[in-house]
Amino acid sequence: MNGIKNWNKSSWRDYKIKQQPSYPDMDELRKTEEEISKFPPLVFAGEVRKLKSEFAKVCEGKAFLLQGGDCAESFAEFNADNIRDMFKVMMQMAVVLTFAGGCPVVKVGRLAGQFAKPRSSDFEEKEGKKLPSYRGDIVNDNKFNEKSRIPDPQRMVKAYNQSSATMNLLRAFARGGLADLHKVQKWNLGFVKENALGEKYQELADKITETLEFMEACGITSQNTPMINETVLYTSHEALLLNYEEALTREDSIDGDILDCSAHMLWIGDRTRGVDEAHVEFLRGVINPIGIKTGPSMREEDLLNLIEKLNPQNEAGKINIIVRMGANKIEKELPKLVRAVKNAGKKVIWSIDPMHGNTIKASSNYKTRAFDEILREVKGFFKVHKEEGTFPGGVHLEMTGQDVTECIGGAKEITEDGLGERYNTHCDPRLNANQALELSFLIAQSLKEARDRMKNA
Ligand code: PEP
Ligand code: CO
Repeated sequence: MNGIKNWNKSSWRDYKIKQQPSYPDMDELRKTEEEISKFPPLVFAGEVRKLKSEFAKVCEGKAFLLQGGDCAESFAEFNADNIRDMFKVMMQMAVVLTFAGGCPVVKVGRLAGQFAKPRSSDFEEKEGKKLPSYRGDIVNDNKFNEKSRIPDPQRMVKAYNQSSATMNLLRAFARGGLADLHKVQKWNLGFVKENALGEKYQELADKITETLEFMEACGITSQNTPMINETVLYTSHEALLLNYEEALTREDSIDGDILDCSAHMLWIGDRTRGVDEAHVEFLRGVINPIGIKTGPSMREEDLLNLIEKLNPQNEAGKINIIVRMGANKIEKELPKLVRAVKNAGKKVIWSIDPMHGNTIKASSNYKTRAFDEILREVKGFFKVHKEEGTFPGGVHLEMTGQDVTECIGGAKEITEDGLGERYNTHCDPRLNANQALELSFLIAQSLKEARDRMKNA
């Protein structure tokens, strides 16, 4: 037991809950939960503690957080190439940001479990037909017919298996050679290489290669310094479907800590963050670092209550406030929150999700986001932290290693008319690999300035 008052892994069931599917067969649901509760853990307590200690460094302004991945993973797009390409782009972005900030970049994927989706409406209407909304592949199917939209508990088993295979490949990439800094050139994806951005990356890669040769000459090699050829990519997802999260919550056999072993880090969505509701109740009992999505309706006292409930000991590295206000609102809404948290002496990471506050509908009816608005919100975020004397600790992006056409703009200018070419997302529009890499180059200077401020503080 974790000794937290009146908490156990099922206590959330006594609380008001939002955004849950209604399973038609409760007996089958219970049996599936039983089944999953016997599956092996996907992550281990030691790894989660390690992530927390790395997050603690972000809190102090000594490291930067890069969190990114699909809006929603899907069963259909599950294959090794997609995972490999996402891994490569994350590595490229991390290199750019490490170089700029002169500090470690903690890499956290929205993957190996990012399946369940909150929806703005319980129903979807098309051509006069009304059906329950799609809630992510872990719940039901995206196809627009009655049968597909019935929630099926067995999908949780499939999501677990896919997460487990994804984790296996990520661990192999991280330790088995793909993360080797000597391969920094090879992370450049074919379609990125061809343009100016690819060249810019190449310049950086050449500098790194030169530095490695110099280090090697001095005797610092990957044999004696494993950090040169190994990395860690942590996993995260929204802890939305609590039946699944509960089934994967275990007590650590060594010190009795309670761990949600579905991912290293979990977050609470902007729609389910009620302080007296089920999602907060569940997450207050587990040792994992917790993200709090923070939209424009968040008031100072709501945020402070959430932090108090989720991290009563004020442990550094436990709380990641993921701001998603929208480019037009951030400079007005964020300063008061930053001030309130600072005045209360709470140790937190501030990170920016410039995706969810900037979703628009294109004239072609596609849901999209403009690259310039995404960049503008990130810049607004850095500006507020500069003014408040706090550290802008990270970015949280919906992105993919594929050459999709889902967000408009970027150096390779995707237009509204071009959105239909490769619009593959199962939920929200993602930055493609070019746009994601471009964004990291564009925020590099702001990160450098923020880090310099922290060093001189
Ligand atoms: C998400 O991260 O995909 C999401 C739904 O975010 P939010 O809760 O911030 O809307
Ligand atoms: Co999303």
